[in-house]
Amino acid sequence: MGNIHYMDHPLIQHKVTLMRETGTGAKEFRELVSEVATLMCYEATRDLPLKEVEIETPICATKSKVISGRKLAVVPILRAGLGMVEGMLSLVPAAKVGHIGLYRDHETLQPVEYFCKLPDDVSERDIIVVDPMCATGNSAIDAIRLLKEKGVKHIKFLCIIAAPEGLEALSKAHPDVNVWVGCLDEKLNDVGYIVPGLGDAGDRIFGTK
Ligand code: PRP
Ligand code: URA
Repeated sequence: MGNIHYMDHPLIQHKVTLMRETGTGAKEFRELVSEVATLMCYEATRDLPLKEVEIETPICATKSKVISGRKLAVVPILRAGLGMVEGMLSLVPAAKVGHIGLYRDHETLQPVEYFCKLPDDVSERDIIVVDPMCATGNSAIDAIRLLKEKGVKHIKFLCIIAAPEGLEALSKAHPDVNVWVGCLDEKLNDVGYIVPGLGDAGDRIFGTK
């Protein structure tokens, strides 16, 4: 699965450990999700193209590099993906933000779509889809399918914790999409939760349980 990139940065590993702990409350959990998102954004934007521009420093005129190419949009999968948006925007503040609302049906583990609002020019942008969790992979697969149906050609997906089953399914469904993973966990349990995981990311971010 050459399209999957694993993060080995110690700061990411450390922060994910804190996120996993049952005793970590919603405020600290939200801060950690945001910080990890920033670190992942840094890695996932390594391939952004640059162009040279002419500028004046206080010392002299010079040529220096700025980011060029297509504009970006960040697309969180609601709800839990929302927790990653501020962290992403702290590095790419000019990015637009689209929203895709999906929840997993607890019986079938299939995503149910309830919201979609994307920038008008979404098909001309590079899209970074964000969601802390990739379990069966169904939510990510569906969100990416939806974006492709809107004409989007360049998509990356960032998740903080993934199960091997989800990554395999995602890679099979969308081999053209590059995926960044904070931590690869062991497996899914019999109700579709990631083991060891961190529980329900949405509930932990929003304090709903
Ligand atoms: C969680 C998570 C992902 C999805 C991952 O969302 O944020 O979107 O599950 O599972 P999958 O890979 O099996 O599809 P959930 O459906 O719990 O909704 P929520 O974010 O509103 O809590
Ligand atoms: N969604 C979550 O929030 N956690 C899991 O472990 C699986 C899906």
